[in-house]
Amino acid sequence: MDKETLNIVDRRTDAAYDLPLYKGTLRAMDLRRIKTGPEDFGVMTYDPAFLNTASCQSAITFIDGDKGILRYRGYPVEQLAENCTFLEVAYLLLHGELPTAVELRQWIAGITRHTMLHETTKKFLEGFRYDAHPMGMFISTVAALSTVYPEARHVLDPEVRRLQILRLIGKVPTIAAYTYRHNLGFPYVYPDNDLSYAENFMNMLWRMVEPKYQVNPVLARALDILFILHADHEQNCSTNVMRAVGSAQADPFVATAAAAAALSGPLHGGANEEVLRMLDEIETKDRVPAFIDNVKSGNGKLMGFGHRVYKNYDPRARIIKWAAGKVFEVTGKNPKLEIALELERIALEDEYFVKRKLYPNVDFYSGIMYQAMGFRPEMFTVLFAIPRTVGWLAQWQEMLEDPEQKIARPRQIYTGHEARDFVPLERRGATVTA
Ligand code: ACO
Repeated sequence: MDKETLNIVDRRTDAAYDLPLYKGTLRAMDLRRIKTGPEDFGVMTYDPAFLNTASCQSAITFIDGDKGILRYRGYPVEQLAENCTFLEVAYLLLHGELPTAVELRQWIAGITRHTMLHETTKKFLEGFRYDAHPMGMFISTVAALSTVYPEARHVLDPEVRRLQILRLIGKVPTIAAYTYRHNLGFPYVYPDNDLSYAENFMNMLWRMVEPKYQVNPVLARALDILFILHADHEQNCSTNVMRAVGSAQADPFVATAAAAAALSGPLHGGANEEVLRMLDEIETKDRVPAFIDNVKSGNGKLMGFGHRVYKNYDPRARIIKWAAGKVFEVTGKNPKLEIALELERIALEDEYFVKRKLYPNVDFYSGIMYQAMGFRPEMFTVLFAIPRTVGWLAQWQEMLEDPEQKIARPRQIYTGHEARDFVPLERRGATVTA
């Protein structure tokens, strides 16, 4: 007998089934063979929030949450963060291999050609209220690109796809920077294509009247590293949205906007904004123990702690902590750091957090670093969305090229009423007596 099978006995019928294991998983469709009779639909799995369901096969990102390992296309993220630029990593995620020097040059040139926004898109952005949340502006403007590039809907054409990928990677920093300037009431700054990806982003954020923006190389490198660390994270909430929307063959602009909408939630990318709010609320280091006690009594969560997959220190958090140190050498220390370090120290020793394997995640230190660089908390998730666009696109492309994938359409367990007769308006609400 093949050892790679599960033997299931259905006690309702006493029938036995040998179900093959595929790479350690059970194909849910095989369960449909288990029926009580020809009219029976067959057994389904029930897995709210996908706690134990692989929705796809993917060769992009590997995570071992227990060991705290993160790899892109097999390369440890630590090595990529140390040795690569963000655009090099973007190439790796999308193409599967690190680029040669020639490929990298062409790739950078391709993306740099697409950094500008159509003037009508710029005007669209101008229409937002002065205090609009940057993430709301980002999501809407990325979706609006769909109206500028209608050919993007031909998602099964690899050449069309490639062009939209270049456009999206090129334009997301521009949109992000414009949302920032919009809140401040500053005129938008056009891209400077002499600069690197992170440098140009800084130019569009912070250039004022000077003819050429002078980049601080330490800050530019820190930003680039942050981009590398946020580029992909396999089947997280927003990536799942990207794949689901993309599976209906919607164009990549609206699919990316939908993924960004998922990212904006406080349990996902919105958490870094919440970390800063939490640190503000704590105010001083001596109030940390009381705050932790409060969390343990069930009042709120320690934001920036815990992860669905990592049950160990998030490897990205370790690198961000290091990068934050470099940034503080330039900007001066963020006073919130002291509170964060104290929170981490106590939480890592506290039984409540140890037992539940709650460790700092990617969002715990990124916010403190971003704030030191001059960003308001409202911008933090937008800074996350820029690099994650690459991951979303890599996953979207992989999904479209996967012959096993179809439109994503889960099943449900219906718990509503049985069939019942319509009640006319005048009889509704009356006490029904038997
Ligand atoms: N603070 C306090 N307790 C927590 C925290 C936290 N941050 N996270 C989880 N717990 C507790 C839960 O209350 C639960 O306790 P219980 O078993 O007594 O009920 C237990 O730990 C397990 O937590 P779940 O909610 O089941 O874990 P899940 O995998 O569903 O949630 C999540 C993961 C959403 C990230 C959660 O840890 C959380 O809300 N963290 C705070 C928000 C955050 O930092 N999000 C960013 C995640 S990284 C990213 O998306 C980029």
